[in-house]
Amino acid sequence: MLHSPPRSSNAGTAYERGWTMAIDQQANPDTVRAVDWTALFAARTRAEIGPGLASILALANATDLISFSGGFPDPATFPGPILAEILAEIVTSGDSTALQYGPTRGLPGPRAFVADRLAERENRRPAEDELAITSGGIEALELLGKSFLDPDDVVLVEAPTYLGAIMAFRSFQANVIGVPVDEAGLDVDGIGAAIARQGRPKLLYTIPDHQNPTGVSMASERRQALVDLARRHGFLIVEDVAYRELGFDDDRPPSLWTIGPDVVVQSGTFSKTFFPGVRLGWAAGPAPVVEQMVLAKQNTDQCAGALGQRLLEEYGRRGGLEEQAGRARALYGRRCALLMEALATHMPAGVRWTHPRGGFFSWVTVTAGLDTVELASRALDRRVAFVPGRPFFADGSGGNTLRLAFSRIDDGDIDEGVRRLAEVVAGALGDQR
Ligand SMILES: Cc1ncc(COP(=O)(O)O)c(C=O)c1O
Repeated sequence: MLHSPPRSSNAGTAYERGWTMAIDQQANPDTVRAVDWTALFAARTRAEIGPGLASILALANATDLISFSGGFPDPATFPGPILAEILAEIVTSGDSTALQYGPTRGLPGPRAFVADRLAERENRRPAEDELAITSGGIEALELLGKSFLDPDDVVLVEAPTYLGAIMAFRSFQANVIGVPVDEAGLDVDGIGAAIARQGRPKLLYTIPDHQNPTGVSMASERRQALVDLARRHGFLIVEDVAYRELGFDDDRPPSLWTIGPDVVVQSGTFSKTFFPGVRLGWAAGPAPVVEQMVLAKQNTDQCAGALGQRLLEEYGRRGGLEEQAGRARALYGRRCALLMEALATHMPAGVRWTHPRGGFFSWVTVTAGLDTVELASRALDRRVAFVPGRPFFADGSGGNTLRLAFSRIDDGDIDEGVRRLAEVVAGALGDQR
């Protein structure tokens, strides 16, 4: 049966052309014509999202170059044979929950484990209805978007911020607005100005610890001020703690969720501290918010994989996560120090970079007037890769910035990679003169 096209005001658009082609083909089955499927895609997919993460991930897998691009954990940090032992125990124990569909909020055991961990690490234990297990951090953003965002709703994000978050919120046709970040994290004073211009946001998304892409962390006093603002204006803070456990020193300001559990939903991931292949994270926040996210999850994936949840619980209860995080912090801390040394040695005058105290990234600002998209292609010729800064800004600014990931690069390649990059920058500066 032929479905009629929805009534629309976009006569003659690419959408309608695609539909007409489909109708032609059904009327004359002998005519084989290629349907322009893209013309049938939902309007919301036409938001300017671009190839985004996919192209970064593709580059990150290249092996014939020195890559500072993808924010991948180093496989050297992944759990070893212990995982096989736990898996064997789970499978032979006769407990079928690991292989079965699970509750949408997560299996009771893994939920209790995550709640205990939050109590220990964040001084606050979420109540039963304040916690859900997610299929990774990115899914929490999707569920929040699905739960909160109508077209043109305002979402404030850091400028720059995690590209996946911009993509997730844009996919709901939200109006994503950047608020500047400096060495002390999100410029909380800038939020007032953004609200005055754009109106009250529904969500404010922040990565307060060792941020992606800049590596900076939000100062303690700004955290309290941000929570106060959210209470005053009535918006939800989305606190992404993807790198919180990967600090190189013991300085850990309180989480936003600890300060303001009434206005903050914390989105966490086990991708950087266990392994990304398991696709697991958590969302902890006000009960009505988590409730709505759980409803949204019912027709997203219904539940996070039960097998992964059980592996995480058993591994975590045996102290695996703490042991692994210790190794990861030492590895990434060492690489970050090597990167800082190499940048200081090789970069021409006028280039600035952040000095992360945790996480995966440093953020480089080259001389005004240079364009890092152009530099990236010159760098590829020299077999070195990084991610240009522009996609991390909701407004596409930041043309003279770039992100260097030090998480998955061999120690021995760091100096050489930066040396090549510095030559590319110096060459472009020379051409400019
Ligand atoms: C800030 C931030 N949040 C979330 C994620 C995604 O995490 P997950 O693998 O759990 O979806 C990433 C991954 O790079 C990230 O950098």
